Amino acid sequence: MEGAVFSLTEGAVRILLCKLGCLLSEETWLVRGVHGEIQYIKDELECMNAFLRTLTISEIYDDQVRIWMKQVREIAYDSEDCIDEFIHNLGESSEMGFFRQLIFMLRKLACHHRIAVQLQELKARAQDVGERHSRYGVELAKATHQEVHPRLTRHASVHLDPQLHALFAEEAQLVGIDEPRDELVSWLMKDDIRLRVLAIVGFSGLGKTTLARMVCGSPVVKSADFECCPLFIVSQTFNIRALFQHMLRELIQEPHKAMAIAGGKNGLISEDYLEGMERWEIAVLTKNLRRYFQDKRYIVILDDIWTVSAWESIRCALPDNLKGSRIIVTTRNVDVANTCCSRPQDRIYNIQRLSETTSRELFFKKIFGFADNRPPSDELEEVSNSILKKCGGLPLAIVNIGSLLASKTNRTKEEWQKVCNNLGSELENNPTLEGVKQVLSLSYNDLPYHLKACFLYLSIFPENYVIKRGPLVRRWIAEGFVSQRHGQSMEQLAESYFDEFVARSIVQPVRTDWTGKVRSCRVHDLMLDVIVSRSIEENFASFICDNGSTLASHDKIRRLSIHSNYNSSQKTSANVSHVRSFTMSASVEEVPLFFRQLRLLRVLDLQGCNCLSNETLHCMCRFFQLKYLSLRNTNVCKLPRLVGNLKHLETLDIRATLIKKLPASAGNLIYLKHLLVGHKVQLTRTASVKFLRQSSGLEVATGVVKNMTALQSLVHILVKDKSPVLREIGLLQNLTKLNVLLRGVEENWDAFLDSLSKLPSPLRSLSIHILDEKEHSLSLDNLAFVKSPPLFITNFSLGGKLDKLPPWISSLRNVSRFALRHTELHAEAIGVLGDLPNLLCLKLYYKSYADESIVFRPGKFAKLKLLIIDNLERIEKVLFEGGSVPNLERLTLSFLQEPRYGILGLENLAKLKEIEFFGEIILSVVTKVASYVKAHPNHPRVIGDKWNIVTEYA
Ligand SMILES: *[C@@H]1O[C@H](CO)[C@@H](O)[C@H](O)[C@H]1NC(C)=O
Ligand SMILES: *[C@@H]1O[C@H](CO)[C@@H](O)[C@H](O)[C@H]1NC(C)=O
Ligand SMILES: *[C@@H]1O[C@H](CO)[C@@H](O)[C@H](O)[C@H]1NC(C)=O
Ligand SMILES: *[C@@H]1O[C@H](CO)[C@@H](O)[C@H](O)[C@H]1NC(C)=O
Ligand SMILES: *[C@@H]1O[C@H](CO)[C@@H](O)[C@H](O)[C@H]1NC(C)=O
Repeated sequence: MEGAVFSLTEGAVRILLCKLGCLLSEETWLVRGVHGEIQYIKDELECMNAFLRTLTISEIYDDQVRIWMKQVREIAYDSEDCIDEFIHNLGESSEMGFFRQLIFMLRKLACHHRIAVQLQELKARAQDVGERHSRYGVELAKATHQEVHPRLTRHASVHLDPQLHALFAEEAQLVGIDEPRDELVSWLMKDDIRLRVLAIVGFSGLGKTTLARMVCGSPVVKSADFECCPLFIVSQTFNIRALFQHMLRELIQEPHKAMAIAGGKNGLISEDYLEGMERWEIAVLTKNLRRYFQDKRYIVILDDIWTVSAWESIRCALPDNLKGSRIIVTTRNVDVANTCCSRPQDRIYNIQRLSETTSRELFFKKIFGFADNRPPSDELEEVSNSILKKCGGLPLAIVNIGSLLASKTNRTKEEWQKVCNNLGSELENNPTLEGVKQVLSLSYNDLPYHLKACFLYLSIFPENYVIKRGPLVRRWIAEGFVSQRHGQSMEQLAESYFDEFVARSIVQPVRTDWTGKVRSCRVHDLMLDVIVSRSIEENFASFICDNGSTLASHDKIRRLSIHSNYNSSQKTSANVSHVRSFTMSASVEEVPLFFRQLRLLRVLDLQGCNCLSNETLHCMCRFFQLKYLSLRNTNVCKLPRLVGNLKHLETLDIRATLIKKLPASAGNLIYLKHLLVGHKVQLTRTASVKFLRQSSGLEVATGVVKNMTALQSLVHILVKDKSPVLREIGLLQNLTKLNVLLRGVEENWDAFLDSLSKLPSPLRSLSIHILDEKEHSLSLDNLAFVKSPPLFITNFSLGGKLDKLPPWISSLRNVSRFALRHTELHAEAIGVLGDLPNLLCLKLYYKSYADESIVFRPGKFAKLKLLIIDNLERIEKVLFEGGSVPNLERLTLSFLQEPRYGILGLENLAKLKEIEFFGEIILSVVTKVASYVKAHPNHPRVIGDKWNIVTEYA
């Protein structure tokens, strides 16, 4: 914890010192009036900061020091709030008439006076806390000679290869699961047309969910004729409405969309089937679910049911249709299990701890990467035994401690003994909540200090929330947890933190992309318990949820999360005016009354909220310090006119909203780094196949983009006709990602070509798509005339008619991913692409290729690992000649009709691991491919991914 306090405190102080420095150099009369106070606070904080560093280096922590650090942090936050208001007050425009200016000056003076008084108070507090520090100074001198607490030593953490680790993490969890899985599968598959319920009951951390997943994922179940096998998490903060909406969305809406794309000849997605679902009553939701399940043989996993009443509500939506359907429930509560399995055909399975042998196997596999029963050196034998005993056969505990040990460079007996000493012994004989939490606290405590604040930050998300990499990284940066390091951008550094959490198994990977990178994760609910209680203790974050709120425990709230419904008209006495970060979950049905008081917010996340009124949005424009704003996946159709008041905004995430235009005031957002727009639909479970919805794209007025000089990502900007925006893009020198959608820009090509020539060297990802639906309208052929092409890009995507690839394409030595759509290219283009030296992934989307046969020649595509062929209209033959695409691992396919001459030469792909069919799956194609690859030495998997529901063939 101490480390977290330190990194939190240090982060807060660092930002503040920077601001104070800037302010002191200002030469206006307003600043001169309070110059003394500001200088004093700055000096005090500098001293405190230096002292903080000494404390961390000497690793002395006790309760007094901890409390002191918290006080320093609170002062730093309060000073920053005060200074920010002061600066804001300084910066108001003075372009107004004399009389108004007079009133304005008077108001300013009054405000100035208030701030001056606040500064006096802060000065006194700083003085006070500073004196306390000198008292510790004495103890510090004493303590450096003797180690007060024997602690785990902190080393620079080893950066394990995160990709390797994620893949391996999945496997490691599976040790010892075969036997119970096979037993349950055979029970499940018994001939019985009645609905059967299986309840897996047991303590937290025993692997109930993993077992349930494994049962559903076993080949026997997969090849049976079940129509759907999704997993729904019920969890403690149970909201039947939100759950049912989620189920419907997963089951009906997504397939419906996918079907429209895969089958639709024009690639258009029709209107949302479930329009207005947010307002449906529970009875209507139930009826729709029943109707969906009625004629299907289904398996559903309901994960983590806490109460009998939750079960009873869900049960109503799952009909017994006498088709041999199955429900798997996991729960910690025996009463729930008994209620679920009240009929004779049901079954309760008590999940057991791991045996000693399997515990050892899992443990060593986690540390050394191979399954063995012995450590590689005898000196570790004894200490391994003691650690394993304390983990009590709980997979969660073993995996956590194993990862902790794996992250240490020194694999010595002494080092391991220290870990062992810090493990409680509660788990040895009987799993208790406290015991598991103690184990998890240990993995948390062992984090290097710069990671602790970032990890604690995960406590603001609700239970079972899927945390996505990109947004998390941007939020860490907005909160000031990541400091600039030489030669590495903040984004890169923050991403390495995320990878480290995965490598240490303190988060659980949810989605891994085709390269093995973990794109989203989840925090185990027990780990969440651990960090939530630390968060509350440190006044890091406060929470409002069904079972109460933690607002009362601190006088000033710094970060606030609302997770579920509560009575919004409830008055709160807590001081919310200092909240810097506010997160509201999708299940909240009303914006709280105190929303307007959150003036000093830095981070505002309203993702998924469907209760945002125009008034709420308008109110938001007064949060002048806002750096991060997410309205992703909300019903917002227009940004408020004054959004430009958010001068410090760095991230504006409006993906999957109905927003089509930026207001003119957006030209004031000069610090904006990420402007994220567009609505993408994922068509496969690894999300390698994606589709941008038709109405995506954001229009901006002239001069807006030009002002946003700090932009790094400009994603899905829509440019029409003669708009000068194309020219402005060329001025953005820090751009790393650019997605442009063009509509009717014939006369404007020169400007665009000019901009493309000027794209800066940090640019990595470039996508250019033409939106015109008319035949023979615009083509991308002009791209051939770019004077100085962006040769440094790694991701490239083109959409629109193209007779021939521009000649410079063959010079793109760094391109690793290439996507084409609507280009209608011919065979020679495949030859050009085949010579790109670093191409790893080629996506041939709908209409990208116009010939009947596509042939991969020998010696081409030397590094390609993933090839996607998506419903090419005329395709009759796919041929891999001997020696072509030698490294292909994954082939992802979808067809409009069976190719007449087939898919040939699969035997030439020596590294092939998986052939994946998606969209409308044509069974005759799949069975042929499956029978071809029977003889393949690699035995590649043949799977159908029909709307994220995976079926294994072969
Ligand atoms: C590893 O152990 C050696 C000897 O026991 C010690 O000198 C070294 O400092 C240790 N390294 C770390 C990172 O603790
Ligand atoms: C919410 O709280 C207010 C005031 O405390 C009370 O009048 C109202 O009945 C409550 N509403 C609900 C739905 O509980
Ligand atoms: C919000 O404003 C938009 C346009 O300004 C308008 O179309 C919409 O009806 C308003 N919504 C509400 C709830 O007032
Ligand atoms: C761009 O910034 C300048 C200077 O800050 C400002 O005067 C201008 O209005 C801005 N342009 C737009 C379109 O907002
Ligand atoms: C562009 O990036 C560099 C390096 O990160 C930074 O120093 C500079 O301020 C950025 N430019 C703008 C206009 O933000």
